[in-house]
Amino acid sequence: MHFFTYKNKNLFAEGVSIEKIAKKTGTPVYVYSHKTLMRHYAAFTSAFKTVPHLICYSVKANSNIAVLQTFAQEGGGFDIVSAGELYRALKAGADARKIVFSGVGKTTDEIEYALKNKILMFSVESPQELRALDATAKRLKKKAAFAIRVNPDVDPQTHPYISTGLKKNKFGIEPVAAMKEYVYAKNNLKNIVPVGIDCHIGSQLTKIEPFIDALAKTKKLLSSLRGQGLDIKYLDMGGGLGITYDTEEPPHPSRYAEAVIEATKGLGVTLIFEPGRAIAGNAGILVTRVVYMKQGAEKNFVIVDAAMNDLARPSLYGSYHAIRPVKDIGASEITADVVGGICESGDFLAKDRIIPKPKPGDLMAVMSAGAYGFSMSSNYNSRPRAAEVMADGNRFHVIREREKLSDLVRGEKLIKGRKGK
Ligand code: LLP
Repeated sequence: MHFFTYKNKNLFAEGVSIEKIAKKTGTPVYVYSHKTLMRHYAAFTSAFKTVPHLICYSVKANSNIAVLQTFAQEGGGFDIVSAGELYRALKAGADARKIVFSGVGKTTDEIEYALKNKILMFSVESPQELRALDATAKRLKKKAAFAIRVNPDVDPQTHPYISTGLKKNKFGIEPVAAMKEYVYAKNNLKNIVPVGIDCHIGSQLTKIEPFIDALAKTKKLLSSLRGQGLDIKYLDMGGGLGITYDTEEPPHPSRYAEAVIEATKGLGVTLIFEPGRAIAGNAGILVTRVVYMKQGAEKNFVIVDAAMNDLARPSLYGSYHAIRPVKDIGASEITADVVGGICESGDFLAKDRIIPKPKPGDLMAVMSAGAYGFSMSSNYNSRPRAAEVMADGNRFHVIREREKLSDLVRGEKLIKGRKGK
């Protein structure tokens, strides 16, 4: 459930009209709802309140520091995959002892930065990374807590680009090899301490079964590890719970929690979850203005001022995002592609979509854009990135200024001795 609703035919984010926000910031602009973020976050904490757990919001989904601040203030932890995400989380007031560091390519510098900041644990994804972690910890005279990310070879039944728990994927280590690595680490790598097992199988899952199948495999590993005398305290189940973009019917976090709690009964671990999309996805929209209407030889095009650089998901995965008029005046419908101004045929926000016929100047809302929206945006075609706004009751805050043209060349330099301004 979210707080983007119509009042007198005008779209509001909580108590603020989208039109008013667009007037202040211009378009395109991402608008998030604080209340929705809090509600979705609370859905997880309350669903797991009967068992020891830690919710580590996955920063990559939406990494604006005001969004992170919202969860940090609630005592939440964070799942990070880069030094940049750690920097953001710390800036937002995160407690480093509640941060888990995932990802297959952590560099030594990143490991060092995280170790110095005393994060909770590293989710290690390869034998070489395990040794790099040990070597870095040794150099810094520290002990690094780690989990191994297990690749359980379970099909999450989602888009291939966001499936991560299959043998053919680059993520994690298969259970038998993981077992070997734990034992090797215990006997030989004295600067790292095994504390957990991690398993993230993919994103936008709409069924519970793949999570439980993966859990069955991690539980097996857990008991073997304990048999070897390893003190495994954390079972990190990753993120991945899907949301409704169109007609999907993903399980509510409470149903997911019921199944997980049942399947982990008596394990004596603290469960860690890394939800991203389920918290942020439906807590944000992308507001864009129609620039032109164009009738092509075969299709109608609604050309808007947002593009694939602002929201890459439709182009990248063919994802569906509902498109709503900001002022719903009951216009007659047309079938059209909603496209941006970028010089690529893959630049679209919606294809063959039936929408109320807009006119140039009208505002439209691209729904469910709070996760993997701004965080995946780019400057392609030298387009300044959008502004971001947080609606909060009857007020709103600009939480990221729209980029200026001068921001586009920040850090760039002309070659000395050649002509230029
Ligand atoms: N933990 C790990 C280790 C992850 O790799 C991810 C997402 C998450 C947690 C959070 O997953 P979530 O709860 O949001 O499903 N750009 C794609 C999604 C990529 C997901 C990458 N990993 C999209 O727009 O659909």
